[in-house]
Amino acid sequence: MCGIIGYIGNRKAQDVVLKGLGRLEYRGYDSAGIAVVEGGKINLVKRQGKLRILINELETSPLGGSLGVGHTRWATHGVPSDTNAHPHLDCSGKIAVVHNGIVENYLALRQSLTKEGHKFLSETDTETIAHLIEKFYKGDLEEAVIKALKLIKGSYAIAVIHKDEPETLIGARCDSPLIIGVGSNENFLASDVPAVLDYTKNVIYLENHEVVKLTKDSVRVKDLSGRVTHKKISTVKWDVSQAEKAGYPHFMLKEIYEQGDVVKGILDERLVKDKVVFDELKIKESDLKKIKKIAIVACGTAYHAGLTGKYMLEEYARIPCWVDTSSEFRYRNPMVDSQTLAIIVSQSGETADSLAALREAKKRGAKTLGICNVVGSSIAREADGVIYTHAGPEIAVASTKAYTAQLAIFYLLTLYLARITKATPVSKLNVLTRELTKMPIVMNELITQYRSDYNILAAYAEEFKRYYFEKHNKSYFLYLGRNINYPNALEGALKLKEISYISAEGYPAGEMKHGPIALIDENPWVVCIAVKCKTYDKMLSNIQEIKARGGIVIGVVTEGDKEIQHYNINYLIEIPRCEELFSPLLVVIPLQLLAYYVAKEFGYDIDQPRNLAKSVTVE
Ligand code: M6R
Repeated sequence: MCGIIGYIGNRKAQDVVLKGLGRLEYRGYDSAGIAVVEGGKINLVKRQGKLRILINELETSPLGGSLGVGHTRWATHGVPSDTNAHPHLDCSGKIAVVHNGIVENYLALRQSLTKEGHKFLSETDTETIAHLIEKFYKGDLEEAVIKALKLIKGSYAIAVIHKDEPETLIGARCDSPLIIGVGSNENFLASDVPAVLDYTKNVIYLENHEVVKLTKDSVRVKDLSGRVTHKKISTVKWDVSQAEKAGYPHFMLKEIYEQGDVVKGILDERLVKDKVVFDELKIKESDLKKIKKIAIVACGTAYHAGLTGKYMLEEYARIPCWVDTSSEFRYRNPMVDSQTLAIIVSQSGETADSLAALREAKKRGAKTLGICNVVGSSIAREADGVIYTHAGPEIAVASTKAYTAQLAIFYLLTLYLARITKATPVSKLNVLTRELTKMPIVMNELITQYRSDYNILAAYAEEFKRYYFEKHNKSYFLYLGRNINYPNALEGALKLKEISYISAEGYPAGEMKHGPIALIDENPWVVCIAVKCKTYDKMLSNIQEIKARGGIVIGVVTEGDKEIQHYNINYLIEIPRCEELFSPLLVVIPLQLLAYYVAKEFGYDIDQPRNLAKSVTVE
């Protein structure tokens, strides 16, 4: 939620800030702004709407200066507007602040600052930070920021500049991410690594309650008590080209097509002579042997990956498993103890509820394991162990390749734990391992079909749009799955609703008779995942029941399935035959693409759907 950037060096700050904001726009996109120190004053431009609006304006009246901060917003306090957009200034207009997070005690602070004579212009919580810094400023910006932060309750990542200190850029964080990009004769602050990748791969991950003072050739980090802390510089493996569209119309499409290679990369890295290797897993095998239950905790798509993980872990490692959404886990009284392994799944590694759930599990004595994509993210750092998905930057708000990468890690973790628990014969595990290694090839074959000139899913999407308008906008989607593909039904529905704004619900097909079948008439399109598996016949019965009530069925079926031909299915999607356990890796691809093409038909902004942000760093 919200992306911030800061620059100090010899380049034109505007260029660096705007480019960086472009790479952070996935974090929020209802307004954007920039402030620079130029000619002994702060120059500020901020605009409601997408970053493009700000860029257009700056093309005609550019800002100079080589010290600047920028922000792309996802509104929390105050509607999206020019006034509420960041940066925010103090009364004198000498200090500019950009902020990601929430100042929870902002009302009390605002009231007392107002009494002291400060004039507020916006409805935001952030503006209190600018006025607090103003209040404490006595010629040392770093000192004033530290004093201000001591009064703030809540979460923040901030970047601050002062017109009288043109050689200083200050940053600080608490529960919102902030990295330092270390350059040569230039330094950067940013919410995420891709924002600085054009200039440097050397980064420092700031910890909670740390404040950094940057000049163009120095970096000094202190804690809030003023003690200097020594930080390690890490080298990022990501390449800047991975954060670009590379000729694709949307990041989402690029990321869907990358999935076979992502899974291949994971298997190549982790399978050594058919044995699973988790180098970064800092939990000892002897500790894993003591595990009696597994709690998987995550949000959104990562939660669906976790649900799939439960099926495999219970089946092959025979460890009881349950899956919670992080927001529920953190506020109930979860039965977690020292014999529990809590697995926190998060692409960003920064999701506020998942981070809080991790801390809750730790507090209760559980061993904690993060499955994260972003290296050095908060969850990755705070968990006892971490397994990185190394899927490369995922930019589209709708998560796709992170999901299949998480599934791949769950397969490996299952094989790994099953060897430890000895719950499945090694010969069976060897067969499964060999089957798993074939999956990237099969995924890529499937993807190649969709890359061809005639894409059946684009045709179905077009057909749906026609139907939708014919039915006076009453049409919507239901997704049904069973067993290990039930989570895919949830995921397919989530993808569709988040980018096409069409109502969609995922259900375990066996639940139809317990309520949802009442919905069936000619309106909904029902996506039935009916691949060859142990519940195939049950799914066929579901399809019959839907057809008998006039429902329109899209069947996701196994290639070459003759039996399905007798069911009068309206639209067929075929996936290659494979071991049932691994079918989720294939089934999800057409579901993602169907959502993509429906959103495209309706003309929506696929990479940046309304009301959403990629990284939900506030509750
Ligand atoms: O970064 P995380 O994996 O923790 O994010 C979790 C969810 O916010 C995320 O999966 C969200 O549901 C996606 N927009 C789904 O496409």
